[in-house]
Amino acid sequence: MAQETHPGKTLKQHTLWQDGQQPDPCAIIIFGATGDLTQRKLLPTLAHLFHDHPLPQAFSIVAFARRPMNDEQWRSMALESINKYMHEDDKLDSAAQRAFAQHMYYCQSDFNDPAGFQKLADLLGQLDREKGTEGNHLFYLATPPTTDSEIIHQLGAARLARPTHVDNHEQCWTRIVIEKPFGRDLASAQKLNRELARVFRENQIYRIDHYMGKETVQNILAFRFANGIFEPLWNQKYIDHVQILVAESLGIGSRAEYYEESGAIRDMVQNHIMQVLCLTAMEAPVAFDADAIRDEKVKVMRAIPLFSPEDVAHRTVRGQYTAGVINGTPQIGYRGEKGVALNSTTETYVALKLFIENWRWADVPFYIRTGKALPKRSTEVTIQFKRVPHQLYKPSETTGLVPNRLTIRIQPDEGISLKFAAKVPGAARHLSAVDMNFSYNSAFGIESPDAYERLIADCIMGDSTLFIRRDEVETSWRIIDSIINAWKHLPANTVYPYPAGTWGPPEADKLIEKDGRHWDNP
Ligand code: BG6
Repeated sequence: MAQETHPGKTLKQHTLWQDGQQPDPCAIIIFGATGDLTQRKLLPTLAHLFHDHPLPQAFSIVAFARRPMNDEQWRSMALESINKYMHEDDKLDSAAQRAFAQHMYYCQSDFNDPAGFQKLADLLGQLDREKGTEGNHLFYLATPPTTDSEIIHQLGAARLARPTHVDNHEQCWTRIVIEKPFGRDLASAQKLNRELARVFRENQIYRIDHYMGKETVQNILAFRFANGIFEPLWNQKYIDHVQILVAESLGIGSRAEYYEESGAIRDMVQNHIMQVLCLTAMEAPVAFDADAIRDEKVKVMRAIPLFSPEDVAHRTVRGQYTAGVINGTPQIGYRGEKGVALNSTTETYVALKLFIENWRWADVPFYIRTGKALPKRSTEVTIQFKRVPHQLYKPSETTGLVPNRLTIRIQPDEGISLKFAAKVPGAARHLSAVDMNFSYNSAFGIESPDAYERLIADCIMGDSTLFIRRDEVETSWRIIDSIINAWKHLPANTVYPYPAGTWGPPEADKLIEKDGRHWDNP
């Protein structure tokens, strides 16, 4: 299949495999194949990879799931999802759909049935020999976290966790991808890590955080370390504070069962926001490789002091949306969502202030905010620089002027802008804040790969740079646990209501305003 540009697409197709890279033939085995993640995300992504990038000729997708089905039924179910969820511009024509479906197989079993795993081993052996997948196996756990341990154990017991050489192929590999949530606190994350380590080596394990697959998140490193002019200013001497915002305009939709147990801090802060924070704050790695980068990220998190109960009371705010209107559309309150308890105290909003105690960041507050049902969807990192040491202009000439501010727009409208002061044309010495703006779309004219596309391609290539290492996940949970444990002792009325369509509870404004600062709302 040749790389092609779809007719009618405004942006050019990106390249995913680097020059000269050839993805290995492989079988991708999806656990939880009939679930939401597989149907909405994994299958459309694999179909897109197959058609546009392309996957190797010899690849198979094996669904391992409980529902009784045969190959044909699974193929039509998969094609239905692909048609429903694939981006309009990317849709496959019927010949391409048929070609894709020919690579799909179904293995029906319970997750705790050794016979089912033996059946899987037999099927993989057959595909390796007959379809040329050469013993390369990527196990993808798109399952509820409660089933992870059992699947990992069964894979080990069926001897599927170690590569088995097929014919003369000595280089074959076995990898496992684990979706979030990775545990629900430090203890459960450690337990899962131990179970994984019993069966797989760390370099076989790919813990996914889809934020790391976003082009704009990866660009934080390029922006910082491939440019000479920002890094000298990137420290406590010039930076007043940093804000990280992950705002979503949707409520929780039909995910109550998951979200009631998770809340905003587990759902967004422990993983996505921590990753963005680490990339923003880390030191330059010694090399652009998986371990060097992950070493630096862990160092950032280790420098974040755990929250004491007093810190939690003063430096964190929880909120929960009530009924409101978002962009003209009515939104019911969280407690009215299907499956949510009427007296639920699950937070749908968190604001917090943390510090990174090292030479670079001493005394620089990092303000973090995330929430559902906010006025708009926007993920941004704001670097607020300090004021000039001496202002030459009179206050009347600088009204409304703000110190330099760099905004990294992760989504939507991906780009970077820098706010600086400029003289308003004319005789008077009036200054005004203006923006210097970089936009991905207009600069490159290339569509960014979807995060999952990037991450699945990296798994197939064996590049774990964008995946989360064992110590990273545990270090992050240690910080989050210190907050969650203190929240357990606070009264329910400290989960403050905010009407859907507003920027969170007034208490969150106070959190930053008591420091003489303001939220930078997009
Ligand atoms: C997921 C969370 O990990 O990330 C969701 O479980 C959230 O609650 C989603 O909506 C946000 O991802 P994105 O890519 O839309 O910012």
